[in-house]
Amino acid sequence: MPPRFVARQLSNPSGIGGWLVRLGMNRGNARVNAFAVDRLDVGPADKVVEVGFGGGPNLRRLTDRGASVIGIDRSPDTVAAATKLFAAECAQGRARFVLGNVEDLPIADGSCTKALTVHTVYFWRSLEKGFGEFYRALRPGGLLAVGFVPQERMETMGMPRDIFTMRTPEEVCGAAATAGFTADPCQSPGGAPWLVVLCRKGE
Ligand SMILES: C[S@@+](CC[C@H](N)C(=O)[O-])C[C@H]1O[C@@H](n2cnc3c(N)ncnc32)[C@H](O)[C@@H]1O
Repeated sequence: MPPRFVARQLSNPSGIGGWLVRLGMNRGNARVNAFAVDRLDVGPADKVVEVGFGGGPNLRRLTDRGASVIGIDRSPDTVAAATKLFAAECAQGRARFVLGNVEDLPIADGSCTKALTVHTVYFWRSLEKGFGEFYRALRPGGLLAVGFVPQERMETMGMPRDIFTMRTPEEVCGAAATAGFTADPCQSPGGAPWLVVLCRKGE
């Protein structure tokens, strides 16, 4: 597949190309997603919102831990696929998948205990608005994990800059702090090209 086509599919998967890219992402992004979920220490009392869940590499991990899950993505195909795959959990009220944008999350204030987003910050129009929305959606004491490849590394990957906005760790942590979060230093296991920043909302 041509690189621009792949980049567009990564930013908003649709059709057969989107299906293929979602399968590829579930494999290629497995490690950063597992690392991000582990940072959140999710359990049965949690209500977790994941924004930009794509092919859903975390969804089974979250429901297996007993959490209830709200998945929000701007791609109608990802929402339809997850709703079909998790039909039983949706019927039980343990999962719900909704079309939406990080800058205007379709969920009530303080309705979640944990939040997660991996490989999406490149597509946010405003980091400040996105973090502001996560802050609004989380309860006091809530946690947000954000996984991303930082600008320095992303520059070596040849992604088209009109589709991918590269982000530095300082920009991401700064926007989280502006929204009101306390952002821990970025973490990654040795040698990984990505980082995860854990953001806490005060009690
Ligand atoms: C590169 S994929 C990452 C998918 C998954 N998180 C992973 O790590 O494999 C980006 C996903 O985020 C969604 N997305 C991108 N920008 C978004 C936005 N502003 N609001 C909501 N979803 C967004 C896309 O539709 C796509 O499903």
